[in-house]
Amino acid sequence: MRHSYRSALVTGASSGIGVSFARRLAAGGCRLVLVARRQERLAALAEDLRRRHDVDVEVLPADLTTPSGLDAVTARLTAGDPIELLVNNAARSARGTFAELSPETIDAQLQLNVVALIRLAHTAATAMVARDYGGILNVSSMASLTASPGTAVYAATKAFVTALTESLYAELDGTGVHVTTLLPGFTRTEFHTANDVEVSYLPSVAWLDADTVARAGLDAVAAGRPVAIPGPQYKLAAATVRLLPRAALRQLAHRYRRV
Ligand SMILES: NC(=O)c1ccc[n+]([C@@H]2O[C@H](COP(=O)([O-])OP(=O)(O)OC[C@H]3O[C@@H](n4cnc5c(N)ncnc54)[C@H](OP(=O)(O)O)[C@@H]3O)[C@@H](O)[C@H]2O)c1
Repeated sequence: MRHSYRSALVTGASSGIGVSFARRLAAGGCRLVLVARRQERLAALAEDLRRRHDVDVEVLPADLTTPSGLDAVTARLTAGDPIELLVNNAARSARGTFAELSPETIDAQLQLNVVALIRLAHTAATAMVARDYGGILNVSSMASLTASPGTAVYAATKAFVTALTESLYAELDGTGVHVTTLLPGFTRTEFHTANDVEVSYLPSVAWLDADTVARAGLDAVAAGRPVAIPGPQYKLAAATVRLLPRAALRQLAHRYRRV
């Protein structure tokens, strides 16, 4: 059965893949709650979506690394117009090896990519199970599948997201609530500039566009599939990763590390 969610809350909706999620959902007539820190960007996007698609769009500015920001978004998941789809998309990374990162930078990644994501997923799942209907799309990364020297903390947070989602998918089977994890490869957004991550060495074949990635994730959660991997190059990479022994993957990561 294919689901057509009538309302969605999207985190990280002020740029990149989050904007693509919002545009695609609005085009399908879905009511939206847009979450990020940059209120002006959310307001401009909301205005554009209302004008183009005649849908209700709420703007909820929040810093998900702060208790008050996380509380505000959690509260919206349980009050007001019920949210049928949660898109847990906001995340950050940081430049530097593990030893170079400051404790604050590590904490900020854990807080946003792990603590906020699991709190929102838990709040949404509880409300959705009670209604016997809903979807949760947790944005992970191809980095969750392998060792990632140079972005060790980020990759570990994404491994958490993939592992959590696969467990929840099985646990929630039969409840009417679907949980999907989306594993993008390199995608052209503000992510690498915002997080000072070096990507100039990458060949053009490595790159995906945000609309392709968002479509793959939304299609998968609507169809009740547990995992979405956009792009033929990354589908092949994921299949190879599954076939190779873990020790071989570690050797490859070591040989091709850029730090
Ligand atoms: N781009 C890639 O190559 C790639 C690859 C694999 C996975 N991903 C994943 O895809 C997702 C979307 O990333 P993207 O590429 O679209 O990156 P992006 O353009 O940098 O967007 C990140 C979004 O997260 C929001 N955000 C950052 N810190 C926040 C905070 N403290 N509280 C609330 N919102 C916050 C940002 O908005 P504000 O700054 O306005 O708060 C922005 O809307 C992430 O989960 C990322 O890990 C991306």
